[in-house]
Order: sequence, then C-alpha cells, then structure tokens
Amino acid sequence: MAMSLKAQAAAAALKEVKPGMKLGIGSGSTVNELIRLLAKMVDDGFEIIGVPASSYSEALCKELGVPLTTLDEAPVLDLVIDGADEVDPQLNLIKGGGAALLREKIIAAASARMLVIADESKVVDTLGNYPLPVEVVPFGLEATRQMMQNSFDAEGLQGEMILRMLGEEPLVTDNGNYIFDCHLKVIRDPKSLAKRLEVIPGVVEHGLFIDMAVRAYVAGTDEIRVLEP
Ligand code: 5RP
Repeated sequence: MAMSLKAQAAAAALKEVKPGMKLGIGSGSTVNELIRLLAKMVDDGFEIIGVPASSYSEALCKELGVPLTTLDEAPVLDLVIDGADEVDPQLNLIKGGGAALLREKIIAAASARMLVIADESKVVDTLGNYPLPVEVVPFGLEATRQMMQNSFDAEGLQGEMILRMLGEEPLVTDNGNYIFDCHLKVIRDPKSLAKRLEVIPGVVEHGLFIDMAVRAYVAGTDEIRVLEP
C-alpha cells in the first residue's frame, strides 16, 4: 500500500535519526506515523531512546515497543521531530491543535535541533489562519481572557477566543490547564505577539514556535520538499 503523505514526511525526517540518539517525539497524527515507522526500526535492532510530548504519543510508543525515558532522566535531547498546524517560510510554527503545545515546546527547547514533518496543507505565507492555541491556567480565566484581548488589540488583531471544549466541559490538557483557540486570521508579527502573550501571568504557553525549527520535511503529491529558514 502507498504511504500517506504524513508517513512520507516522517520517513524522510527519520533519516536524520542516528543510533544512540535521545529523540524528542512530538504528537499528532503525523507523529503517529513517525512512531509506527520508528517502532519498525527498533524491531530491526535500531537503538534510540525517546521522550514523548503527550500522553497519547507515550501510549502509542509503549504499545509499539519504542523505548522511552523522561525529560528528567534525559534533560538534553539530540533531536525532536514534531508536526505542526501551520509552517511559514521562516519555519515559524503554529502548534497545539492536539492540545500538547506546552510539553512539545519544553521538549523542543531541550533539543539541540527541531525537525518538522507535515504535508503541504500546513505550509502558509503568513501564520494565523489556523486558530492559535494558548494554554491558560483555569484560575482567573476571565481576567486572562481580557489581558489576551488587550494583546490582540495592541497588535491590531481581531481576536475571537474560544475556550476549547470536550463535550460540555472545558478540555483539560495533560498539565491540568485549559486552551483558548484564538481566531486571528493573519499574524503579521508573530514575535511581537509572542512577547505580549508571554507576560500575561495566566498564560502558561502559546502555540507560536518561533526560531525553533531548523528544517521541515513537507510531503506533497509529487515530491518531498526540505524547507530551511
Ligand atoms: C499537537 C500539535 C500537532 O503537532 C499538530 O496539531 C499537527 O497535528 P497533525 O499531525 O495531526 O496534523 O501541535 O499539539
């Protein structure tokens, strides 16, 4: 059976994984393909140790036999491979569609290099069409919402914020927090917006990954493109 685009991007990035590496493993459906391919390599005797970014990735790695450790045991990683919701030409990213952005960013920051795997649908000229996930502390939610709104106003963004729900209740992240999905359309200055969000006490982390990825493997129907900032 032909490989999906997501699996093709994952396979291309896996060529950068060398035996003995400590590998950050992101999350999402593209990373699930990565985990499946990695599990086959491990089955064939390839030795790596992974640090997963979400409870879902952790469960899949365990199910398929990918050896894992924790960031406490391995605080410095050689490489992280992760998906993205949007990728711009500088390889700035929006992440967090799967609500795992905080752990994904901690793992990316702990890794010497970050590779992105995606299909062509994720590549954009300007970030923002995909709603920006922002992880917030449940305490003081309305105050945090207003402070975030002020940040968007200051950036000239019409930001509608929607609390992510799971059924009738707010979705709770792996870290016990909530997510606002911020519909901003066009984020002209991601760095500036990131700085504004980072000083809001109730904001734990936002899904803008700026200057973190060094290479993206983007699978299209005709070819796999390798993007660099
Ligand atoms: C999860 C993420 C994912 O990497 C992002 O949502 C992409 O997911 P997918 O590979 O399923 O399109 O940031 O928090």
